[in-house]
Parts: sequence; structure tokens; C-alpha cells
Amino acid sequence: MFDQKNILLGVSGGIAVYKACALASKLTQKGANVKVIMTESAAEFVAPLTFQALSRNPVYIDTFDEKNPQKIAHIDLADWADIVLIAPATANIIGKLANGIADDMLSTTLLATQADVYIAPAMNVHMYAHPAVIKNMKQLEEWGYHFIEPGDGYLACGYVGKGRLEEPESIMKAIQKHQENREKEPILSGKKVLISAGPTRERVDPVRFFTNRSSGKMGYALAEAAADSGAEVTLISGPVSENIMHPNIKRINVTTADEMYIEMHRYFPGQDIVIKAAAVADYRPKQVYAEKLKKKDGEWLVEMERTRDILQSLGKVKTKQYLVGFAAETNNLLEYGKKKLEKKNLDAIVINDVSSAGAGFEGDTNSVTYVNKHWKQDEVAIASKREVAEKILTLINRDMKDELH
Ligand code: CTP
Repeated sequence: MFDQKNILLGVSGGIAVYKACALASKLTQKGANVKVIMTESAAEFVAPLTFQALSRNPVYIDTFDEKNPQKIAHIDLADWADIVLIAPATANIIGKLANGIADDMLSTTLLATQADVYIAPAMNVHMYAHPAVIKNMKQLEEWGYHFIEPGDGYLACGYVGKGRLEEPESIMKAIQKHQENREKEPILSGKKVLISAGPTRERVDPVRFFTNRSSGKMGYALAEAAADSGAEVTLISGPVSENIMHPNIKRINVTTADEMYIEMHRYFPGQDIVIKAAAVADYRPKQVYAEKLKKKDGEWLVEMERTRDILQSLGKVKTKQYLVGFAAETNNLLEYGKKKLEKKNLDAIVINDVSSAGAGFEGDTNSVTYVNKHWKQDEVAIASKREVAEKILTLINRDMKDELH
């Protein structure tokens, strides 16, 4: 598991620094690329040269000691790391991280990284039990940091209790187990996902309506892929011929844009991800007749009025929801797509070139461009709508994780 992995070892100041030397050595022996950041206090216990020799890489201590003028070291290291391990982690570095303090190389890099961060604490037994330390650790756990805590034992300060750094082999085993379990876990496990799909129908009279070419296939593929990835899915569906039977999918049928508006808002609170794949009518007949209109000679002009923009209204009330819209375009794809993302306060937009072969309405395949709110752009090449749905969900999951760090 460690082979070819980029591991950033953060060493803060405590007597347990000597065990971090063994860690650096063992990780390197397992094939990992190890880079070490030490705090100034850590360098009081063990010379940086020791870590340099064990990792075969320069050791970083001073934020302003830039070794390469082409790069900003703390950002470069933060991006380089697949895994960050802080061992030993003192009460001080735990406190800084839990409170967003970045005043040295290690704390600054920790705020900048998006990698998995493992924290192996080491401190005096009473420090470990202090409410401030407990509160900080809880906060970090809530944010997704992983602690590798030791059992009881003799401490260098003379006490017996909890506080010694876990043994290097056990730290490595804990990381390995955690990474392996995570790979097995479905990506949306425990998440609530709300999806709208299909067209809407806007009636003129009991037998006539306005609608569009949407088949609902993309939205249904998203619902099924999300449910297979462990999510609890609510699917608000316009009139389509698609069927869906899945224990994790609750389907609510609607006909008009207004009905979709009501159901989307009803289910919106408490959702983690909301994807609006539906092709909602932008206009509906101003007058709806209760009885069938008889044909007459000459033209019939139907006056239309705007429907409410459901997605835009959700963008205004969203709290934690990761809100994703669809844009069906035939030209200036990126420009129009990005405008919609901004106007509707979205987290990402899936842009569909409905004029290109094998993409868009009705067919079984699609190809899309996914753009997130930081303008990061990913192309999803032509594939079945189910495969495209899986890729879109993977991108959403990636971006949600990035937001967390
Ligand atoms: N949408 C919505 N409510 C509407 C209209 C659209 O929620 N009344 C959502 C769609 O579900 C989709 C996105 O908004 O996620 C599409 O944006 P929109 O600006 O409506 O696209 P177009 O209808 O293609 O708009 P335009 O004609 O301006 O290109």
C-alpha cells in the first residue's frame, strides 16, 4: 500500500521524535516517497540531518526558507502529498490545526493540504485529558481527520497512562487498514441525494400540452448509480417511460414545472447532494382550459408565461447542499454553462452539447463537460448514460471532499 505513495511526515516537538525516525525509515523501506516537515521544537530533539538521511529528501522547517524559487514550498508539499502523517503530534499542533492557526511550516502546510491526514498524538497523560485537547481532537475528527491513538504505557515524563506515541509498525498498520477499508466503501454511503429527471408537461386543455424531448434517461441513470453507490435517493420525475426499482430510491411523480418546484423544495432540506437533470419547461400556457378546445379556422396563438426557475430558487436557500445543474446547449457551451452556474449559485454544472452525435436527448449515450464553481473543468467522454452518471458522481464526490479540507 505504501509503495510509490507520497507521504508527508509532520514531526512536532516531543521526546517521541526518536520514534518518528523509525517511521521515516520504515516508510522509505516500504517504497514510499517520504518528505519531512519538522517544527522548530522537533529540531531540538533530533537533528534534521537524521530525517534527511532516512528519507533521502531535504527536511523543511522554516516557511521562508524556499529551496526552489519556482515553487512555494508549503503549497507544493501540500499538493504533493497522498497522505499526511503527523507523528508525534503535540497538544500544540493539534490545537493550532483545530483553530486554523498557520504560523510555521507544518501548520501552514496542514491547512493547505487536501490529502488524508493522520494524527498520532504524544503528550503527557494530564495534557491528553485536558478539556481543551479533547475538544480540539473532537473538532478535528468531525472535520475528517483520523487519529491513531496509543494504549496506556510508561511515559517519558514518569507517569503511566495514555499519551505515548503509538509504535511505528502499529501506526503504519492503522493507516493501511483505514485506506483499504475506504477503498471498499461505496463512495456515497450515508449520503442523501435528490435528483430531478425527465421533462415537464404544461397543459393547454385536457388533451393538449407543451413538453420537450427529454427522456429522463440521464436523470434515471444518475439516480440508479447514486443508489448503487450507497446513497439514499429521492427521484422527482416528470412523465417518462423509464422504470426504476431500487430499495434505495424513492420516486415521486410530477407533471408540471410547478409541481416539480413544490416537491423539490419539500425534499430539499437535509439533502447532501441535489442534481437537477430535469428539462423543466421555461414557459407554460397563460390560460388553461378545463374543456377541450374545438378547432377553428385560422391561426391559434397561445400566450405563454414564464415558469419559476426551480434550480435558481434552490440556489437561494441552499445551506450544506452540493447543488448541481444541467445545461443543454448547442453553441458557446462553456460560456453559457458558466453563466448559469453563477446566476443560479450552483456548486457545479454539467454541460451537455445536445447538438453533438451520441449526446443529449433520448439516446442511450452521452458526453458532457463538468465545471465546478472554481472553474475546474473535466471532460466526460462519450459512454453509456450509466457510465457518464458514475463519472459525474465521482467528480461531485471529489469536489465535496475538497471542500471539506
Ligand atoms: N431549471 C429549473 N427550473 C426551470 C428551468 C430550468 O430548475 N424553470 C433547471 C434545469 O433542471 C437545469 C438548468 O436549470 O438544471 C437548466 O438551466 P436553464 O437556464 O433553464 O437552461 P435552458 O432552459 O436551456 O435555458 P436557456 O434557454 O436560457 O439556455
